Amino acid sequence: SNVSLTLNPAFRVAPVRRRTFGAFVEHLGRCVYTGIHEPGHPSADEDGFRTDVLELTRELGVSSVRYPGGNFVSGYQWEDGVGPVEDRPARHDLAWHSTDPNTVGLDEFMAWTKKADVEPMYAVNLGTRGMAEALDVLQYANAPQGIALSDQRAANGHPEPYGISMWCLGNEMDGPWQAGHKTAEEYARLATETARLMRQENPDLELIVCGSSNSQMPTFGAWENTVLTEAYDQVDMVSAHVYYSEKDGDQASFLASADDMDHFIDSVVATADHVRAKLKRDKRIMISFDEWNIWYQHRAESRPPSGDDWPVAPVLLEDTYSAMDAVVFGNLLISLLRHSDRVASASLAQLVNVIAPIMTEPGGGAWKQTTFHPFALTSRYAVGEVLDVRLDAPSFENQRFGSSSAADAVATWDDETGTLAVFVVNRGADAPLALDADLASFGDLEVVEALTLHHEDPYATNTQAAPETVVPAANDSVRLEGGRLVGDLPAISWTLVRLA
Ligand code: AHR
Repeated sequence: SNVSLTLNPAFRVAPVRRRTFGAFVEHLGRCVYTGIHEPGHPSADEDGFRTDVLELTRELGVSSVRYPGGNFVSGYQWEDGVGPVEDRPARHDLAWHSTDPNTVGLDEFMAWTKKADVEPMYAVNLGTRGMAEALDVLQYANAPQGIALSDQRAANGHPEPYGISMWCLGNEMDGPWQAGHKTAEEYARLATETARLMRQENPDLELIVCGSSNSQMPTFGAWENTVLTEAYDQVDMVSAHVYYSEKDGDQASFLASADDMDHFIDSVVATADHVRAKLKRDKRIMISFDEWNIWYQHRAESRPPSGDDWPVAPVLLEDTYSAMDAVVFGNLLISLLRHSDRVASASLAQLVNVIAPIMTEPGGGAWKQTTFHPFALTSRYAVGEVLDVRLDAPSFENQRFGSSSAADAVATWDDETGTLAVFVVNRGADAPLALDADLASFGDLEVVEALTLHHEDPYATNTQAAPETVVPAANDSVRLEGGRLVGDLPAISWTLVRLA
């Protein structure tokens, strides 16, 4: 069967935003320790950062990195992580039942962001702490020298303010698992007052208020309504988080996960715009999709230690991703791009080892999971304007949505260079699809490259021993015939076609 696409340079959604390609580094498992930071590792630089991970981070095309959590941040004391390393206290992290040696903190993270060439996004603790500590860390990070906290930063070797622009007002504050979780009313007041104070210090901050932890929360929608009604004038974005996985062998529903992400984004936009109407405001609240990924939460590797065991940097949430996971993942990026008019920022959760595209062995190598590839290629080649794609494809039945389109696609068009990138997935498990895209309105184009990520075994994975098992390969069937782009899209596959 066919998937026919209609594309036109006039079908503009919004400019591609670099911040769509953010990631997340949490003090969780081996994301920080033996992930980005491992003094003594053969590749470690003078600051103890693994240069193999830095190189892969740059290759991944990460734009911004959220830090330091996650659930971790809701019990975190940022002061533990600054000053002479030998004086820093080790602490229990209750969120992940681990011990944090605090040898990495804000200053190390900022040094790492410079080397990785990424923008920082910093989350404050509104779980066990509040306004005063949020203001303190803001002054430590952003104030010019001359006050106590900025002088402390200078004394720690960092005279220049960091100028961190994006700040998250806590993390998943609606979740009962969160340290200090709150009702919508409690959080709305705290977030609003914290934001007001932070803006008095730095008027131009971009502030992100917590939305629901996921769209299945019983208070989803109502939470956003209450929180935004209170905080509307003080914040710029509301957060959204989601994790998908194949559950109970229901492959078809998993393959259609991006339908849920579309619906999720539309619902948050509708709620934010409802508050806008109610308050008679002009400004629009944008979405910070600051946690998204595939995560097999029921697997043993996601269970934190317990009892007297409080390890440093344990193996936690180290999911191994399959070819099918990478296809669904690539489709989630299609959904995020398609919503670039309202999704102003996004963070893949997470970057290294913890549900991550990059894996490391302590003292050993680093390798790319299957999901690395759609992220890196989308980040690199989505340039210019996002174009809406009109799509006609067969549908497939699934429990979650009833019926879903077997194909999904988005495109980007760069006027300046005359470059078109088409991202398309075949979400059907059974049959290839024949691509037929009408590109007549773009004038003369040639196919520069067509890459497809597919494996005959959708459950094939990349391992340290065989890291190239699932990688994108040239799709030689893709070609132009007249003004039409044609080719074959195998079952369960993700494809990028670049034209110029
Ligand atoms: O990314 C893993 C965890 O998922 C984060 O700590 C938390 O915010 C979310 O529930």
